[in-house]
Amino acid sequence: MSKDVIIACDFSSKAELLTFLDKFNGESAKPFLKVGMELFYAEGPEIVREIKRRGHRIFLDLKLHDIPNTVKKAMAVLSALDVDIVNLHAAGTISMMEAALEGLTRPDGTRPLLIAVTQLTSTSEERMKNDLLIDHALDEVVLHYAANAKTAGLDGVVCSPLEAGKVKGVCGDTFLTVTPGVRFADGNVGDQVRVTTPAKAKELGSDYIVVGRPITEAADPVAAYKRCIAEFL
Ligand code: C5P
Repeated sequence: MSKDVIIACDFSSKAELLTFLDKFNGESAKPFLKVGMELFYAEGPEIVREIKRRGHRIFLDLKLHDIPNTVKKAMAVLSALDVDIVNLHAAGTISMMEAALEGLTRPDGTRPLLIAVTQLTSTSEERMKNDLLIDHALDEVVLHYAANAKTAGLDGVVCSPLEAGKVKGVCGDTFLTVTPGVRFADGNVGDQVRVTTPAKAKELGSDYIVVGRPITEAADPVAAYKRCIAEFL
């Protein structure tokens, strides 16, 4: 897979999503889309099938985190949706990640890419220490979780662009880094904490940047998407 910009489609209904997607009708390339909990829980798996029918690649961002058996069975269901990338929380441990991979793998050996969330980009080191009682540097935790994901056989991690280079250093160049927390230099940070620009994410070695509100809430979403592409690719 080559580098790309993934648009986080954090909409609460199919109608809102389609209104957004229609803005891209005149464009030659179909954007890679991320479908998260909000849209999936509102509309169910049919929304994924609808987006696939329209020819988009899909990162289904449901961040599974449960006991290994439950995650394995849930992944088998998601695998049947034939999306390109799915994910889980590395905090579920190596055995949960191994079970997920098993559930995701189809009888013919094919499967969507599986990546792990290390620490959410909205989490600061201070919150991690105070709320989660994880008394290590944030970088150290991210790298340790990434190494666990690699040990379990996963394809990569979700992390901040600021951590992408270090993750590659520990897990190898082909280990994917999918990075949200991207903002234009002149944009709003919102609730994200560990953020950087598309250009900087490129420099830091991200494979995919996930960009939501800077595109979906822009006055001209297509122009904002193209700005991301121009800066990142
Ligand atoms: O609107 P914004 O660009 O902040 O959207 C970022 C997207 O990436 C959201 O859909 C959010 O759920 C997701 N994400 C994240 N941090 C992670 C994993 C996923 O922000 N660690």
